[in-house]
Amino acid sequence: MRIINIINLKGGVGKTTTAMEMGYILHHKYGYAVLLVDNDKQGNLSRGMDLYTDSDICPTARLLSGEPVQDLIHHDGIDTIAANMSLLTATYRLTSGAAANATGRYRSLRKARTQDGKPYDYVIIDNPPDLGINVINALMVTDDVIIPTKIDQWALEGLDIIGDQIAEIKQVNPGIRLAEALITMYRNTPACDAGLDWLHKHNYGAFDTVIRYSEKAAECTFFGKPLQDYSPRSAAAVSYRRFVAEYLRRTS
Ligand SMILES: Nc1ncnc2c1ncn2[C@@H]1O[C@H](COP(=O)(O)OP(=O)(O)OP(=O)(O)O)[C@@H](O)[C@H]1O
Ligand SMILES: [Mg+2]
Repeated sequence: MRIINIINLKGGVGKTTTAMEMGYILHHKYGYAVLLVDNDKQGNLSRGMDLYTDSDICPTARLLSGEPVQDLIHHDGIDTIAANMSLLTATYRLTSGAAANATGRYRSLRKARTQDGKPYDYVIIDNPPDLGINVINALMVTDDVIIPTKIDQWALEGLDIIGDQIAEIKQVNPGIRLAEALITMYRNTPACDAGLDWLHKHNYGAFDTVIRYSEKAAECTFFGKPLQDYSPRSAAAVSYRRFVAEYLRRTS
């Protein structure tokens, strides 16, 4: 089993889209057993998987309070542990006492099993745009870190922060095998290309594949479908398939 965390301090850079597309491709194209974990109180991944509810205590909050992981999984081909705003209270509780256990709670994801009782091949954790205590604890048990990065007019500042992020994460978890930026929403413009050049010159680890910008990617959130399903031939969908192929090549 490999645990992948999708992180970036910045919002709206494609973290949730990357988690969903990766999960879909690893499962449907390669036949892997995939568990998606929504570690973001915004619950966008849960909405994307059509599992969002605003009542009760969400499954990820229950994971943090120590409930057995197996009771929290929604089994549906691509399996999911869903979140909503109640994750905020659960996270706050971690800061006021039980933090010593928090890493163990995320580590229990390794015990998660599919409906057929098999271990998952991949657990993909979607995170909020911060490095709060629930994100840090998820990173403590991760094998891989993927940092979706949008090259906008603040690209250089953003990329600097990402370099520091990668270094910090490796300090807390030296077991991390791969920590790379993934350029998302790439457009063929001078600003984007200047950002890419800068990245390469400064030797930041980034995937060779860039995710292209597609109108369809923004559209599909309204239809509650992954891009692979909604518009498989769009430039962004094609780039996500190339990216997963590169990820598999680099981690094999
Ligand atoms: N390749 C792409 N081309 C065009 N639009 C995209 C692309 N990838 C994602 N988007 C759109 O950009 C918006 C932000 O994407 P997403 O929700 O994945 O970002 P995020 O980093 O998870 O945001 P947050 O920090 O709020 O959780 C969404 O509307 C999404 O549909
Ligand atoms: Mg998100």
